[in-house]
Amino acid sequence: MHRKPVLAANWKLNHTPNDARAFLQRFLAQVPKLNERTLVFFPSALTVGTVIEGLKDRPEIWVGVQNVHGEAQGAFTGENSVLMARDIGARVVLVGHSERRHVFGESDAHTTKKMALVAQARLTPMLCVGETLEEREAGRTGEVVERQLAAGLAGLEDGQVAGIMLAYEPVWAIGTGRTATPADASEIHGVLRRALVSRVGDKAAAGIPILYGGSVNRGNASQLLAAPDVDGLLVGGASLDADSWASIVRA
Ligand code: 13P
Repeated sequence: MHRKPVLAANWKLNHTPNDARAFLQRFLAQVPKLNERTLVFFPSALTVGTVIEGLKDRPEIWVGVQNVHGEAQGAFTGENSVLMARDIGARVVLVGHSERRHVFGESDAHTTKKMALVAQARLTPMLCVGETLEEREAGRTGEVVERQLAAGLAGLEDGQVAGIMLAYEPVWAIGTGRTATPADASEIHGVLRRALVSRVGDKAAAGIPILYGGSVNRGNASQLLAAPDVDGLLVGGASLDADSWASIVRA
């Protein structure tokens, strides 16, 4: 099955609303409507509204949020909700990003809860999985990503699983300048694809895009995207500059 490549920019804690306006002006001038790819921006929560406003004439480009709380509402000072994400016009939610897991201590149990909540809100969850360097060197990559995937899917019905997106982001490759080789990425994407098949069957699994993330840049994007079973890219640092991101999305 042909999956439309998904090119996603994770701005992390960068770009104020003013920065985002300037970025979009420069980026959109270089990127005409791309029918053959899905573009997604993940700005920080306080910049999401500005990006959605800036893309009102480009509805084919999706906007997502980087994180939501595990409850939809209540006494949770400082958190963001799926209900607010949906209301503002976001379509995708990152769940279990490496920095959420390793900097903010999110567990598999958190991802189980968040994935279910995001799917119930009829937003697209993008589950992130990936091993640390220590786990990789111990030969545990497959086991770790399968465990993270199983936890992410544990609260979903099969029909909801079919609507997710998945991102493989090895922790050792994020922000380090060290990228997985296309062959390494293909191998782990294959592991994830087989796990999806055993959960929901061939047909539903075939529609789920699996993105690679970790030190993607203009120089390596095309090669990674061409690797078997790599259906898209989730890009941090190289998505912050409008020219760099424009050249990657046209790769
Ligand atoms: P870098 O592209 O900066 O390595 O970040 C990857 C990432 O974490 C995207 O979610």
